[in-house]
Amino acid sequence: MNKATQTAAIDKTLAEICREFRLPAVASEAQWQRLLECLPVAVRRRFECYSLALSLSGDPFERRRLQEALAERTVPPGAAHMLEEALRLAAAPDLEARFYRFLGSDPQLVAVGLAGRMRLYRELLPSLVAAVTQSGSPPRRILDVGSFAGVVTVTIARVFPQAHVIGIERDVRWVEVARDLARRLAVGNVRFEPADCWAYNPECSVDQIWWLFVTSGQAPEDLLGAILSRARSWLRVGGRLILLERWQQDVDLLIRSAARVAGLAIGDVLPVRWHCPAEGDQLQRTNAYLLDRVS
Ligand SMILES: C[S@@+](CC[C@H](N)C(=O)[O-])C[C@H]1O[C@@H](n2cnc3c(N)ncnc32)[C@H](O)[C@@H]1O
Repeated sequence: MNKATQTAAIDKTLAEICREFRLPAVASEAQWQRLLECLPVAVRRRFECYSLALSLSGDPFERRRLQEALAERTVPPGAAHMLEEALRLAAAPDLEARFYRFLGSDPQLVAVGLAGRMRLYRELLPSLVAAVTQSGSPPRRILDVGSFAGVVTVTIARVFPQAHVIGIERDVRWVEVARDLARRLAVGNVRFEPADCWAYNPECSVDQIWWLFVTSGQAPEDLLGAILSRARSWLRVGGRLILLERWQQDVDLLIRSAARVAGLAIGDVLPVRWHCPAEGDQLQRTNAYLLDRVS
């Protein structure tokens, strides 16, 4: 497939997914808010509580400020309960896992989660796929880590029809959502497995690993070495890791030294930009790293 055909295949797949889930093709913040408003009140409150907890978990100053405000009772009585719950959740070591379990627990919430990401997929996937296909032979085995609803997995399965794509996902509810998606779109060259990536070993080595937004909430210095050495053990020689996380800091130097230690070489660094309705449609920027197993 050339670049134009690839982009058309990606657009067509994403449009089909939106039709299947009855989502707006590119949800604006207002459309996304309207989906949120359709949730039962208790579910919506819980969603807002998780969203707040996720932003508080990386912000100790804001946590302390809220704790002080709650202790001094300067918080409106109606909001105190929710803030206390958000602070409690923010301190939980498995906050992200709990959040994804909750998000996968109800079809309306699944739609909210997906609508929040469809624009990101539309903005990211064409350039990532083009960069990945620029070099090397067509992939035969692809691993998508943290496959969530399976959107990336089925899209790359359509773009690389000769490949077999495996999506691994820690949360079984999302594995079911992804399997259902593949069935509905009649994508046959894909399989989803419930698995924690830190304990996973593929049956045989793979040509590509897609690692998009799996561990974004965690500090890169604690994770990069583990991600890259895992990826190296899964890749065949010449295989490629596509690594994209939303780290708050510049990770360029860290990646370069972790790649050297793991035996990977940086093939390309791709500046990527996308919009996120859940964050006020703001433009987000980061780098995607394409790393190759050279020996
Ligand atoms: C932000 S979501 C979406 C990621 C997906 N790659 C995408 O771009 O649409 C992160 C997903 O990674 C999964 N995940 C997080 N840690 C994981 C792990 N250790 N093993 C497997 N899946 C994991 C979560 O359950 C969640 O579904």
